Amino acid sequence: MLDIEQILDLESYPLNDLKSDAGKALVERCRADVEATGLFNLDGLVRLDALERCVTEVKAALDREAYTHQQWHNIYFKTKIDGLEDDHPALKQALTSNRKVCADQVPDSILMQIYEWPPLADFLAAVMAKPQLHTMDDHLASVNVMQYGDGEALNWHFDRSEFTTTLLLQAPEKGGEFEYRLGLRTDDDPNYDGIAKFLSGEDGAFERVALSPGTLNVFKGTNTAHRVSPVVGNRERIIAVLCYYENPGVRFSDEDRIRFYGRAA
Ligand SMILES: [Fe+2]
Repeated sequence: MLDIEQILDLESYPLNDLKSDAGKALVERCRADVEATGLFNLDGLVRLDALERCVTEVKAALDREAYTHQQWHNIYFKTKIDGLEDDHPALKQALTSNRKVCADQVPDSILMQIYEWPPLADFLAAVMAKPQLHTMDDHLASVNVMQYGDGEALNWHFDRSEFTTTLLLQAPEKGGEFEYRLGLRTDDDPNYDGIAKFLSGEDGAFERVALSPGTLNVFKGTNTAHRVSPVVGNRERIIAVLCYYENPGVRFSDEDRIRFYGRAA
C-alpha cells in the first residue's frame, strides 16, 4: 500500500496543512475560482505513477463487472416539470451512456484511499465554506467510476447536489471535454425559454475545460448546465465521482440504488 504522500502531490497542494500560509493561499485561490467561474481545479493532484496504478485497479473492475448505464433524459433528469408542457423544447431528450463501477467494486484501491483520507474532506469543506464534510455511509453511491467509450457522452443536465467532486483518471484521445453554460437559470428564475434556445443551438455559447488526468475538479452544477462532450477514439474517458455530505451517515434508498446501479446491495 502506498502512503498518501506517494499518491498525492502535497508539496504543490498542502491539503493536510491548511493552517500554513501555503494552505491558506490554496483555499483562498480555490474560493476565488469558485466565486468567478463556479469551479476549481487541482491540476495533477494525483502523482503520475500512483495514477497509473489507480487506473489499472479501476479498469480491472470495469472490465470485470461494470454496470452499463444508458438513459434518454432531459436537462432536469426528471420526467415531469411543474408548469411546463410535456412537449416544451426545454424538455428535449438526449442520450447519456457509460459503464460504471461503485466503491464496493474497488475496495482497498488507491481511489478509495484518496476518498477516505480525512484531510481531503476537510479541505473541500474549507473551500465550500461548510462546517464539515463527511464521506457517505453507502458502499455503492459514495464513489462511482464512469467509463465513456467512443461516441459516448454525458449529456446536458443540472446536478441535484450543490457541488460535485471528480477526479479524472484517464483522458480520451479527443472529445470527452467538460463543457458548461453559466447563468442559464437561477433559484428564482427557471428561464425555460432560455434553456430551450440553448438546447436548440440558437444560443449555444458555453465554456469548455480540458482536464488533464490526475486533476481534481469541484463544480457547482445545480444552476449551471453542463455536459461531457462525446468521446472520440479508442481510449476511454475514465472519471471518478467522490461524494461528500454535510451530514454523516448519508445513504441512498434501495430504490435509488436500483435506479442508478441496477442493484440494491
Ligand atoms: Fe453533473
